[in-house]
Amino acid sequence: MSDPPQVFVACRLPEEAKAAFSARFPTRFNDRGRSLTPDELIASCADAAVLAVTATDRMDAAMIARLPAGVRVLATYSVGLDHIDLAAARSRSLAVLSTPDVLSESCADVAILLMLGAARRATEGLDLVRSGSWTGWTPLQLLGREMAGHRLGILGMGRIGRAVATRARAFAMPIHYYGRNRLLPELEMGAQFHARLEDLLPNSDFLCVACPASPATKHLLNAAHIARLPRGAVVANISRGDVIDDTALVAALASGEVAAAGLDVFENEPDIHPAYRTLPNVFALPHTGSATLQTRIKMAELLSAGIAALLAGEAPSNQVA
Ligand code: DGY
Repeated sequence: MSDPPQVFVACRLPEEAKAAFSARFPTRFNDRGRSLTPDELIASCADAAVLAVTATDRMDAAMIARLPAGVRVLATYSVGLDHIDLAAARSRSLAVLSTPDVLSESCADVAILLMLGAARRATEGLDLVRSGSWTGWTPLQLLGREMAGHRLGILGMGRIGRAVATRARAFAMPIHYYGRNRLLPELEMGAQFHARLEDLLPNSDFLCVACPASPATKHLLNAAHIARLPRGAVVANISRGDVIDDTALVAALASGEVAAAGLDVFENEPDIHPAYRTLPNVFALPHTGSATLQTRIKMAELLSAGIAALLAGEAPSNQVA
């Protein structure tokens, strides 16, 4: 690796996050005011040893093969890795860094916002207020669902899932979860493990999708799985849109089989399923899970510390390939 390494940051960052890179390395930033095309991205990292991208930069095998030979580290400004072909990175000896842990709290905040927004009919409420068509309080107005006493099923009890569980306990929700492995008691904290997704679903008055996206989880929440939820369940997604089969969820929302959905992530963002823009029982946000300045700074600090550790010949904890 060149010394000192040249870092090219392809994604646009707040100034405070940029400083975390430029304080440690000679760094160039994407200054075009928009995301780069694949050709621009390849041309921009011609002299770089480290390329920093984010979830919207698709680093498939073809893109990884096109990277200039000097690029030895791919640092993704995301915890999600579904945009990177990790096998292709490994076979090219490209080290890959990501940003786990530091965004779990902000994403868990948004998971709670999604569940509350969906359960308490926030989309309809906002429409009433903003349209000027609200005619005043009545006991019949916008009756929603309470969180307290209702079971929360967490699909994927990793760092973000556990941060959601911490918050949900304060809402008096019994916690159930499904994951590849049962957690240790100190992480489980009384949550009930289900070894099969099929068994989690009937115990999920609220279902929070928090698992990583991968070929194995694509459209995991399909029509057959949705049919196992209690009628009138609330579904929230803080993971990736691909985990949900949109056609099936839209049909369940239209029929009332699912009462409401709170969605922060979508398949094919930003060209989302059109029904998510019009169904009154959808509370939708534009992928804002990690969108706080504190988290943005922590993500940059974690990546730049990881780059520095790699340079020092160490294996940083956020290295994923
Ligand atoms: C992440 O870090 O994966 C966020 O979803 C932003 O892409």
